[in-house]
Amino acid sequence: MIADRSYSCWLHSEEINDPTIRSYYMDRCTEIVSIGQSSLLQSAVNELRSGIFSMLGVNPSHTDQPQGSHYILVSNLTDLAATEWAIDAETDSSLGEEGYVLRTCEVEGRHGIIVAGKKDRSVLYAAFHLLRLLRSGQRLETLDIREIPANGLRMINQWDNMDGSIERGYAGKSIFYEGNHVTTDLTRVRDYARLLASVGINAIAVNNVNVHEVETRLITDLLPEVAGLAAVFRSYGIQLFLSINYASPVQIGGLATADPLDPGVKQWWAAVADHIYQTIPDFGGFLVKADSEYRPGPFTYGRDHADGANMLAEALEPYGGLVIWRCFVYNCLQDWRDRSTDRAKAAYDTYTQHDGQFRKNVILQIKNGPMDFQVREPVSPLFGGMTATNQMLELQITQEYTGQQRHLCYLVPQWKEILEFDTYAEEQGSTIADIASGSLYGRPLGGIVAVSNIGNDTNWTGHLLAQANLYGFGRLTWNPRLTSEEITREWIELTFGVAPQVVATVSRMLLNSWSIYENYTAPLGVGWMVNSGHHYGPNVDGYEYSKWGTYHFADCHGIGVDRTIRSGTGYAGQYHSLNAEAYESIEACPDELLLFFHHVPYTHQLKSGKTVIQHIYDSHFAGASQAQELIEAWRTLQGKLDENQHQQVSMRLEAQAEHAKEWRDLINTYFYRKSGIPDAENRTIY
Ligand code: GCU
Repeated sequence: MIADRSYSCWLHSEEINDPTIRSYYMDRCTEIVSIGQSSLLQSAVNELRSGIFSMLGVNPSHTDQPQGSHYILVSNLTDLAATEWAIDAETDSSLGEEGYVLRTCEVEGRHGIIVAGKKDRSVLYAAFHLLRLLRSGQRLETLDIREIPANGLRMINQWDNMDGSIERGYAGKSIFYEGNHVTTDLTRVRDYARLLASVGINAIAVNNVNVHEVETRLITDLLPEVAGLAAVFRSYGIQLFLSINYASPVQIGGLATADPLDPGVKQWWAAVADHIYQTIPDFGGFLVKADSEYRPGPFTYGRDHADGANMLAEALEPYGGLVIWRCFVYNCLQDWRDRSTDRAKAAYDTYTQHDGQFRKNVILQIKNGPMDFQVREPVSPLFGGMTATNQMLELQITQEYTGQQRHLCYLVPQWKEILEFDTYAEEQGSTIADIASGSLYGRPLGGIVAVSNIGNDTNWTGHLLAQANLYGFGRLTWNPRLTSEEITREWIELTFGVAPQVVATVSRMLLNSWSIYENYTAPLGVGWMVNSGHHYGPNVDGYEYSKWGTYHFADCHGIGVDRTIRSGTGYAGQYHSLNAEAYESIEACPDELLLFFHHVPYTHQLKSGKTVIQHIYDSHFAGASQAQELIEAWRTLQGKLDENQHQQVSMRLEAQAEHAKEWRDLINTYFYRKSGIPDAENRTIY
């Protein structure tokens, strides 16, 4: 057991000292009755027992029939149907595949809290929900909660490598691997599974999408080690997926080709699939990064991505497996002088032509924006560009471009904007949330996935407050309609308790942090301006003349990328009409995306009334002082939080404020020198 309380994240249960609440829960929560047996139900009972024990100091009894006047009843709905606690048929059928109920009942004079779900997995979700209520001191006598997840797949991608490193990991080493093997002690993996299940995550790909040499063998000789991981995740209702190397038939199969239409290649994958399912019967499927950033793929053989994905899908189909195919495909060997090639257009151009050609067990995994998880990007036009293909939204919890967990950048507000974005693909209200879930086009499969932000740091995420991003992501995959404020409050109450000043202060800090970060980094949607390779810290031209297609085109006259149809790359035309028109027009384009879509002079006037250059100066001065104010806000909580936790965050905030000044000065100086236009307020610019 690790003593630092940040280890238990939002599952931390404090002993309840308030005598009224304590005796109220003592009356109602010290007897657990369960029906049925499975590792998942066992997990649900264990979670309830240990959570309640921490809160009350009493280990609840566990029986199969109520003994006392109050009890908690744990069961799936099928088993419940044959008992006096049966749920009405209407509620039952409304719960879909994974829904659950939490409700009170009275049977033969005894009072129960029913914790029940369609599947055993949903019972676990219900148990975690009940614990959330208890941790925040809620009353229980009239519970009537019904929850149904909006997304079928609620997934995490680990970018962990088997040498223990994590691509874009900012919180220590991998908890999964060490020395090219799965770690032998899986305690930490189990605790991670608990955290994920508690927010409704039901799928995980456990290795980096860039599949290197050793990891290529996870589907063959290293599979028994993977089976160990799968077992841990299984007991928390999480299905395991593997990222695969498209060239596996050549690299480990001894074949001369990985051509998806080659019969030998098909046979090879069919045999691999068979072997996998013999070892892991509930294996989820493959996650594939192909023809992307030097990874192999079907293009090598003159085949397209429908050919490539369908071949794998055929191999997995007999076992119910999925192929999750990433759409992060673009030319990464660009020449900055070539203004006609636009990386932002690539995914749409590659995939829309194949709409309807993918097998039914293929899902396209699409990053939220057309570039790469920048602090601000428009939403990928691929959403809404296809109607007959399963799609999934990919977000990044790990803060690659948003301060790498050294800076506070709470991403839930950004994700909310993305999810609520109206594509106008059909009529008004064709949101990303409904396209990703599959509901807009009645697609059978869909969901939301994100790159994890955890490592083996004691507090999992490096920056303690970055735990909120993991929590918020899970909650949004379950219910994208929750507001940022609701999620934020939940997380704070579970992590730091319900004291109003704590809740109010931390809420403000979290909810403002994305805009603060945006203020002192790359302006008006143009992105990048980071050091190349590791992506941390300011460097205006860090990616300007590189091969990656990531330019801002700043010169002495102006800045921004012309992506209009009229005079630019034509990217704006990939959107449905209302959005396309808004982005095409300099007047209508939202300020925060102006430089993503237009090249404008520094003197161009924004809707805010400021010129572009003055906006750059003002936002950077503001951002740096807002970062400073975060320190002051946090200081007011000293003595009101666990001292260790308080200190951890203070240190990060201090470093952030210093670094924000560096951003401010570097960006302001660059643009002052380029444009020759002084700051209207005459502040210090070097
Ligand atoms: C980004 C990131 C890479 C990652 C890639 C991906 O480019 O910097 O590390 O591999 O995204 O999503 O595949």
